[in-house]
Amino acid sequence: MKIIRAKDYNDMSRKAANIISAQVIMKPNAVLGLATGGTPVGTYRQLIDWYNKDDIDFSEVTTINLDEYRGLSGDHPQSYLYFMHKNFFDHVNVPEDHIHIPNGADPDAGRACAAYEEIIRAAGGIDLQLLGIGTDGHIGFNEPGQAFELGTHCVDLTESTILSNQRFFADGEEVPRQAYTIGIKTIMQARKVLMVANGSNKAEIIRRAFFGPVTPEVPASILQMHPDFTLVGDSDALALI
Ligand code: F6R
Repeated sequence: MKIIRAKDYNDMSRKAANIISAQVIMKPNAVLGLATGGTPVGTYRQLIDWYNKDDIDFSEVTTINLDEYRGLSGDHPQSYLYFMHKNFFDHVNVPEDHIHIPNGADPDAGRACAAYEEIIRAAGGIDLQLLGIGTDGHIGFNEPGQAFELGTHCVDLTESTILSNQRFFADGEEVPRQAYTIGIKTIMQARKVLMVANGSNKAEIIRRAFFGPVTPEVPASILQMHPDFTLVGDSDALALI
């Protein structure tokens, strides 16, 4: 486990983007595992900036996103595919047919998850998986208490996740109660894992996840066992370690 201390959010984003950029330069047809959420947005912004300056080329890259709400199609403004287009794909040259995210529009969970595992397998596995971390230690939608050995699967969202997501949905609109997510096993099979974390609200979970016991109660703690795991955190997120 390697921990890189960044001064602030911008510095964290630049350092993470540097690692992703190095991966793409060393292997232009790299398979990148990508995440949504607030933390990686600055990383995507930095990569877009370098793309615009001709410093990085995504034309051979394949992307595999972590998760998607079950019941939302990619054109729904709250879908993770929509988020990824707005924050990254619409601004760089990843070919449309190289972009992958679980198919939230498929109501058949078994079929949707098996199809996604097959996509990852056919791509040759994930070279670099970018992750954020939830304040309860979740990675992807792998919530505390789930088995480490799962591949892509359907999860019931916790009541607190549903409540906190409510604000993003229109009045009266149902917040999805389930999601399809890559499992811990799939994440652990990535050849390189890169986590970004910022803000003081992440400090306690960073301490528990990487300086406490490895336990399914803190899903991210399993990353202590990954042979090539890098955490890039700002000074607030790393304040307790
Ligand atoms: C994103 C994801 C989540 C987030 C986590 C942190 O695809 O699966 O695990 O990485 O909830 O979110 P932020 O970055 O908003 O704090």
